[in-house]
Amino acid sequence: MLCLGIETSCDETALALVEDGRLLDETLASQSSLHAIFGGVVPELASREHYRFIGALFDELLRRNNLRPQAIDYIAVARGPGLLGSLLVGVAFAKGLALGLGRPLLGINHLHAHLLAAGLENSLEFPAIGLVASGGHTHLYRMNNPSDIRRLGRSLDDAAGEIFDKVGHALGFPYPAGKFIDQCGADGCADAFALPRPYLDNNSLDFSFSGLKTAALLEMKAAGVSMGAGNPENGEKLADFCASFNMAIADTLAVKLARALDKESAKQVIFAGGVAANRMIRERLKDVTMKYGAVFIAPSFRHCTDNAAMCAYAGWLLGKMGYYHGHAFEAVPRGREIPDDTLFKTPI
Ligand code: KG4
Ligand code: ZN
Repeated sequence: MLCLGIETSCDETALALVEDGRLLDETLASQSSLHAIFGGVVPELASREHYRFIGALFDELLRRNNLRPQAIDYIAVARGPGLLGSLLVGVAFAKGLALGLGRPLLGINHLHAHLLAAGLENSLEFPAIGLVASGGHTHLYRMNNPSDIRRLGRSLDDAAGEIFDKVGHALGFPYPAGKFIDQCGADGCADAFALPRPYLDNNSLDFSFSGLKTAALLEMKAAGVSMGAGNPENGEKLADFCASFNMAIADTLAVKLARALDKESAKQVIFAGGVAANRMIRERLKDVTMKYGAVFIAPSFRHCTDNAAMCAYAGWLLGKMGYYHGHAFEAVPRGREIPDDTLFKTPI
């Protein structure tokens, strides 16, 4: 089965083809340099850019693989959570294509797709604990199978990626700043700055990162940490600060992951979303997972941040289980629950 995946939930316009569980090809147009000027994603601009790119990316994907649209068996599109105007571009394109080609269609939960993307390079085993840490969400899940994914905890305020971006912006890094803090902290000393690990002294699986953000911003100002060029001492201080910040987030995620593993049995831990590209955090979570005798897996670095391979792969998994949507299904913005409104037919 050849599944087309479409992803337009934030600032990446992406399309991918997965055939029988294997990634055939993908195209992606990133808008990050456009939004970097404003220090964050501007929703109206994001929708316009998706609309400008999506048709050309589709043509390019088919041309490169010498395929006609009729070769597509199944269409999967991220339906949310995300920026509504951005999601609508992808969903409208997918519905038009599904109607025109007479093919089944599925609206994919973007956060579930982040997790399932780990299956592109690993074999997924269930039950699993899933942790998605992205720019908009920090969610813990119990995953019983690809179609039965239940949330155990969520970010109550800022998401992990969001505080990477906000603290990184104050340090002077371009948007999105997570990868720069990751790189800059690689040679730093992770206990040089005493940053808090908030919202751990409870029994909850929810996260709260805003206290860490405020503490990091105050500490940064008090210690005079910034990207200011020239002074080598400043470079060392910046590396130490970034390492300490990476570790504060790693520790916070690690405590909640251990708590989830205390409560739920799991064969695997899947760590996904943009923040899963962070090397220090990956290592820390891998150590926790191993202590519980489970297997740690994560998507490849390029498939941690938003991409369409994850939607195509999730679509392929769910499509072969028999799931699809009618053309009336809706895009769902961030903050609203995604309804369980999939239809079901005999598996393909
Ligand atoms: O999953 P994603 O691409 O988009 C959303 O669904 O939000 O995640 C983007 C987030 C941004 O906040 C970005 O700064 C963060 O992931 N990120 C990282 C790294 N690479 C991307 N955070 C920490 N370390 C990284 N290496
Ligand atoms: Zn994402």
